[in-house]
Amino acid sequence: SDPRLQGISEAIRVVPHFPKQGIMFQDITTLLLDHKVFKDTVDIFVDRYRDMNISVVAGVEARGFMFGPAIALAIGAKFVPLRKPRKLPGEVISEAYELEYGTDCLEIHVGAVQPGERAIVIDDLVATGGTLSAAISLLERVGAEVIECACVIGVPDIKGQCRLNGKPLYILVEPRQIDNCC
Ligand code: PRP
Ligand code: MG
Repeated sequence: SDPRLQGISEAIRVVPHFPKQGIMFQDITTLLLDHKVFKDTVDIFVDRYRDMNISVVAGVEARGFMFGPAIALAIGAKFVPLRKPRKLPGEVISEAYELEYGTDCLEIHVGAVQPGERAIVIDDLVATGGTLSAAISLLERVGAEVIECACVIGVPDIKGQCRLNGKPLYILVEPRQIDNCC
């Protein structure tokens, strides 16, 4: 497989018990600090999507904003932010999704995407797939064709797969478990 993937995996800090007991937090901020690894990450996505006629890179607030714009610039696409509620000032449509406790919501600006545009969705990590499903729904409601969702980290046999409205999911690395744990 791609020799860059091991460096990407190792650059992601695993923080046990954050933000609460039992969670192994996958911290991509440490990946962003290493220029070579950050560039490798963006390059892998760019190589995959550059010749696929993608005109929309949609990034999910907040951590999807750390990768999406670099990919969009390199492949010649626009960047469309999918934001948490009440952040976008223009006319929006909203899509709620389930969290472990309660619900959250993503919004897109009406007019940011034209019907028939080919889109990818970028986020740092997929867990349940709820966030990506909401992102796909928003894009489809404005008439885009969602070609694929892409994340840096995810579990391959994620049950999220079947929540992704049948859309393909592209993942670079799996979460590491403990190694800096006590
Ligand atoms: C995290 C992560 C993904 C989402 C994945 O975001 O960045 O967006 O959870 O979880 P899921 O597959 O179960 O939906 P979070 O909502 O914690 O906020 P942030 O990106 O704003 O930090
Ligand atoms: Mg997020």
